[in-house]
Amino acid sequence: MIQPATWRDLNAIRHIEIICFPHDAWPIWDIVGVLTLPNVVRFKAVLDGQIAGFIAADLRPAEKLAWIATIGVLPEYRRQGVGTALLQACEASSRVPRVRLNVRVKNDPAIRLYKQLGYYQVGLWPRYYQDGEDALILEKKLIEA
Ligand SMILES: CC(C)(COP(=O)(O)OP(=O)(O)OC[C@H]1O[C@@H](n2cnc3c(N)ncnc32)[C@H](O)[C@@H]1OP(=O)(O)O)[C@@H](O)C(=O)NCCC(=O)NCCS
Repeated sequence: MIQPATWRDLNAIRHIEIICFPHDAWPIWDIVGVLTLPNVVRFKAVLDGQIAGFIAADLRPAEKLAWIATIGVLPEYRRQGVGTALLQACEASSRVPRVRLNVRVKNDPAIRLYKQLGYYQVGLWPRYYQDGEDALILEKKLIEA
């Protein structure tokens, strides 16, 4: 169900981005980038032959961390553990001591998902998003440094 994503998944992942992030969807070239550049971990969730979700994380070995760049699950597949499975696959293959991410302060479903998996707040970026919403910075320790 969780498989590596490749550039062949571009259209399906673009669709997920547009549906999951109606205000912040990445331009197509950013999606091409996360599907092709080195030092990026990327997985898709496949259910019933459909790509139901996607995750990508930048590996930053100099900082000894991975940064979750995007995670999205199509609405009809949510609350079935797909987001959890994508995050766990990403954490398992990152091979770094810590994972970080930023999330809108009002994105309650995502914050609940992250906290359930052991992420905790390490910062706040005021007015980070284009519409002025603050970002929470969350972190999870994977292995003791
Ligand atoms: C956030 C998102 C990826 C979660 O995906 P998902 O597949 O539904 O997540 P899971 O089924 O693994 O949920 C795991 C836990 O997260 C919490 N959670 C997820 N969605 C929730 C919701 N709508 N309300 C309350 N809690 C929620 C619950 O604790 C849930 O466990 P439970 O179902 O046993 O109660 C999905 O809602 C999504 O794509 N949202 C839009 C894009 C987005 O905001 N991405 C994050 C950007 S930082």
